[in-house]
Amino acid sequence: MSKVDLGVNIAGLKLKNPVMTASGTFGFGEEYGEFYDLERLGAVVVKGLTLKPRVGNPPPRTVETPAGMLNSVGLQNPGVDYFLEKELPRLLEKEICVIANISGANVDEYCTIMERLEPSGVAAVELNLSCPNVKEGGIAFGLNPNSVYDVTRRVKECGDKPVIVKLSPNVTDIVEIARAAKEGGGDAVSLINTLLAMEIDIWSRKPVLGNVYGGLSGPAVKPVALRMVHQVAGALDIPVIGIGGILDWQDAVQFLLAGAKAVAIGTANFVNPLAPIEIIEGIEEYARQQGFLAVEDMVGALQQ
Ligand code: FUM
Repeated sequence: MSKVDLGVNIAGLKLKNPVMTASGTFGFGEEYGEFYDLERLGAVVVKGLTLKPRVGNPPPRTVETPAGMLNSVGLQNPGVDYFLEKELPRLLEKEICVIANISGANVDEYCTIMERLEPSGVAAVELNLSCPNVKEGGIAFGLNPNSVYDVTRRVKECGDKPVIVKLSPNVTDIVEIARAAKEGGGDAVSLINTLLAMEIDIWSRKPVLGNVYGGLSGPAVKPVALRMVHQVAGALDIPVIGIGGILDWQDAVQFLLAGAKAVAIGTANFVNPLAPIEIIEGIEEYARQQGFLAVEDMVGALQQ
């Protein structure tokens, strides 16, 4: 049986396959390591890091919706220093490509986090300009092309690691925002983060989430994500990481055909912890059946 080359190159990162985990759905990998060897993944994108530890938003923080879920975690995390001291060394005991997702309350904070990560074994940084659940930072930067450009440019000046800019779908023109990330020096873009949403409990007549609004993820958002990935990959010469409701290998293949060079698996991890592994195997089998020698040949191979 012929072997398919699963490797992809994103912004200088040589990933062993195109499947990574989406930030915020995988913690720091410890729990999932009980299900499979994390070395099998293309990359692990860890929970969003801030400069100082954060306790996150008031509960309830999650609610299930038809074909998806809302979360308003509010970037709960132990802070970048704890990550560097306690979590990263454990991940790097193995051959795992670790990508740190970072959020700042202001541009200086993004830069400080980048500087702290610079000497570490983190392979790349994912700039979170799209968290819908915090008042400062996150989406506040991601909705405006000028601020996307500014924060990306400043962060790029603070280190040499590849920078992936994670984009929000809560915008009118996703290509304009992706272009700003590229012009700011971003090495790749990842999209989409969650769609701003809400649920109401009609008996209490209150919002279900403690934070009122949250981010919608899961299969419900996949067609939106696919459309945005297709638009960005078609318009810009920058590697795209597709995220949004990928449940199985068929979904992942759709994103690759639409132009994504890699995919990140998020909400599916909560439903099926083995989803990323099944997706890697499914992509390989599909490529073999379709006569692709390399996964990179599938990228953007959509017939129109
Ligand atoms: O609330 C959260 O921690 C979510 C972050 C994100 O969507 O980027």
